This record gives sequence, C-alpha cells and structure tokens, in this order.
Amino acid sequence: MLKFFKKIKIQIKIINNIYNLTKLQYIYKKCLNKKNGYFKKIIKIFNKLPKHKKPNIGLKINTLKNKFLNLINKQKKKISQINKKNIINLNILDINLPSNKNILYANLHPITITINTVENFFNKLGFKSINSKEIENTLYNFNYLNIKKNHPSRTDKDTFWINKNLLLKTQTSSIQIRCMKKYKPPLKIISPGCVFRKDDDSNHTPMFHQIEVFLVDKNINLSNLIYIIKKFLYYFFEKKIKYKIIPTYFPFTEPSFEIYIKNKKNKWIEIIGAGLIHPNIFKNVNINNKEFTGFALGIGIERLTMIKYNIINIKNLYKNNLKFLNQF
Ligand code: DAH
Repeated sequence: MLKFFKKIKIQIKIINNIYNLTKLQYIYKKCLNKKNGYFKKIIKIFNKLPKHKKPNIGLKINTLKNKFLNLINKQKKKISQINKKNIINLNILDINLPSNKNILYANLHPITITINTVENFFNKLGFKSINSKEIENTLYNFNYLNIKKNHPSRTDKDTFWINKNLLLKTQTSSIQIRCMKKYKPPLKIISPGCVFRKDDDSNHTPMFHQIEVFLVDKNINLSNLIYIIKKFLYYFFEKKIKYKIIPTYFPFTEPSFEIYIKNKKNKWIEIIGAGLIHPNIFKNVNINNKEFTGFALGIGIERLTMIKYNIINIKNLYKNNLKFLNQF
C-alpha cells in the first residue's frame, strides 16, 4: 500500500507544474481510474486490512484523495485562465476589433421607425397612445362614423368581410368611436394600426398602416388642427417642407381636407386626411356638440415612410429583403 501512497505523492508534487489539460487529465486517470488507478489499488488492499487498522488508514486515504482532487481542480482553473489570457495576448482574440461582418445587427423596420416618430411627436403634446383591434364590426367601422349604407367601402369590392357583421377594419377612425364611448372628454388620443383594403399595386398593399389622432375639448377649431399638422411635418421631416391643403369630403369630419406633400419626383402625394369632427359623430356617442368640438386626422404611414426615405415601390417594405431593411 505504501508503494501506491508514494506514487500518488509523486504525482501530487508535479501537478503544480502541469500547464496542459490533457496531461492533467492523464494524471487524474492514473490516480483515480475506477479499474486500476492508484487509489483503486489502495482500496483493494485496504478492504483486506484487519478492522482495527481501518479507521486510521481510511482517514489517511481520504485526506490524500481530497488533497489530490483539490490540487487538480486548482490547476485546471489556473490553466483555463492562462489559456484565456494567451488567446488575448497572442491576438487570436482581439476584443477591440469590430465583430464579424457576417453578424447581422437587429434594427427597426422603417414602418416601425415612422410610427415611433409620429407617436413621439404627439405623445410629447400629451396625446395618449391607444391600441386598436384589427377586426371591427359594421357599427364601429361604418355606422357610428356616419358612413352611409350605400358607401362603396361597404361592398365586397373594397373590403375584406369575415361575415355580414365583421370585417378587417378599413381605417383607424373607429378608434374615435370606441374612445368617445368609453371615456369622457377632454380626449387626446393617438392610435396606430393596420388597416385592410382590396388594393394592390406599386403604391398600395392590401394591408397598410394608419395613425389616427384626435382631440375633443372645448373651443377646438381648424387653426388648432392646421397648426399641429404644420408642426408635425416639420418634426417628422426635420426641415420646412411645402404642403397643400385640399378640401375634400369625409363622412366623419366637417369641414374635411387632405394634406399633400411632394415626393422626390416632384409629384404631390396625399399623406393625411383630416377635419373637424362631424356633429353626427358626437350625437352617436352622446357627447354634447354644443359644449365640445374636436379635430381628427388619419396619417398614412407607408406614404410618409416612402417619401422620407425615397422608396419607389411600397412592396419593398414587405419583402423582408435584408439588403433593403439594413439601410435603416
Ligand atoms: N379614415 C380616413 C381614411 O382612411 C382617413 C381620415 C380622414 C381619418 C379624415 C381622419 C379624418 O380621422 O379626420 O381615408
């Protein structure tokens, strides 16, 4: 038994000088291999010892084994630390280098960037962000919004119907009704959302994004609305840009107008529909239209994005082509 004790002690002495994990593993196995390691050999002899000798020698064996294991573990740690340092020192790993070019960085989709920018502007003015559903019913999508029974947007040609009553919402304006029915004025709301229409060409996709903004309070008038739009355009494009205000018809506003700005090809493009909230809307939601007035606007997110970044075809926004998306 002494012979094996000695052999183990010799190994213990050299552990400190081993700087190679494979060599360390070799020593470990030499001593602790379950079949024929030195400790196994010691135990075999130990088992045959008379009982009175066992406690004393058993203690010695355990002490030696603990010492051996401790040293092995310490040395393992030392080696791995040195290895790390070496990797850095040998310039195998230069932590100052920019990471591999093939790694793709996550970035926000241009539509999300636009929505965030618009929301930021209005949130700063105290407008609260509210989410809306994508499925709407006829009451909220049309009736309460003063859209007459024979309006073309109610037909199969323009709208995705789920059944006679439910549809994929065609515009974000229904959020006006949902909020006005739920909360009491004054109201300052902004609500981004997806809308769905049967349109498909280089300027239209069947799903696109709008942001609905509206304000209901006392003494709200057109100049409040136009002032906010003007400030918004300046904030969004980060410079003064030309815009046109063209009177138009929307069932839910009176008067109504559209805002046009120029794209890079010098063509006027409609980006916002807006107006003062129609008195019928207030009637539909039981708000006293003698006491309160309000304005509303619907902003086309794809159009704003396309003009800001000079994107020619709306489809680029939905192809998930990383070459395109990585530019933002
Ligand atoms: N809902 C209109 C559309 O989809 C956009 C719009 C126009 C929203 C005027 C408004 C508004 O809130 O006042 O074309």
